[in-house]
Amino acid sequence: MQVTGSVAELRAWSRAVRQAGGTVGLVPTMGALHAGHLSLVKAAQERGDRVAVSIFVNPTQFGPQEDFAQYPRMLEADCRLLEAAGVERVFAPEPGVIYPDGAATFVEVEGLSGRLDGASRPGHFRGVATVVTKLLVAAEPDRAYFGQKDAAQVAVLRRMSRDLLLAVELVVCPIVREADGLAMSSRNRYLSVDERREALALSRAVAAGEAAFAAGERSAAAVCAAARRELEAGGQVRVDYVQLVNWATLEPVETAAAGDLLAVAGWVGTTRLIDNGILG
Ligand code: PAF
Repeated sequence: MQVTGSVAELRAWSRAVRQAGGTVGLVPTMGALHAGHLSLVKAAQERGDRVAVSIFVNPTQFGPQEDFAQYPRMLEADCRLLEAAGVERVFAPEPGVIYPDGAATFVEVEGLSGRLDGASRPGHFRGVATVVTKLLVAAEPDRAYFGQKDAAQVAVLRRMSRDLLLAVELVVCPIVREADGLAMSSRNRYLSVDERREALALSRAVAAGEAAFAAGERSAAAVCAAARRELEAGGQVRVDYVQLVNWATLEPVETAAAGDLLAVAGWVGTTRLIDNGILG
């Protein structure tokens, strides 16, 4: 496995793979890898892709009061995991490679970028769309892999890819959970033992909303109320949002239908966590 910070090297590898008749799968990450990220690598390998993983803590997707400085950075440990998983290339660029001095070009998916996490994290999805565009331009992959855990991000990137006529297939992989249901996240490592227990309210909330739908409830307000009750039950989660939305537009729905996205977000202590489920 080769680790590079050079766009030219990454692109040369990608082109050589395709010239030899192969396909390239890119797994974009910010590092601090866990089993969720490794499931994306596995999904790419199962499709026959040769895999590159990018590791870049992207400053433009963090707000001024957010955890950019403290976001876990552990390149060596991440690389050990990726090498064992059969990844061929790690792209770990310096910030100046992605954002050269005076960089003034951004990608913004209007409308969607202001919904769900975009409403509470202004500028977040502009940063995500911009960096993912750059990573796709750098790696020229056939497919790029993302987790459903960041379901709003997926909606933004799908729309961006469609609107910009990108020649890449976006593959979305299921949420990977701990045995007790907590969705895997690099931010889980911020949680104390007590907070880790309280954080289970998020997955319980999603399960409660899904159960209401499965039992025949079709009022979106009632599905959200079932989820919110569970989220607030322990009194330790400060709710950011509980919303049932159309997964393509991220607009709230009134009547719940299969395929809608039930999304929850909240703070446990100072850590903001998200979770979701697709109804039906
Ligand atoms: O999902 C993430 O880890 C990040 O938002 C991504 C897609 C790597 C862009 O920085």
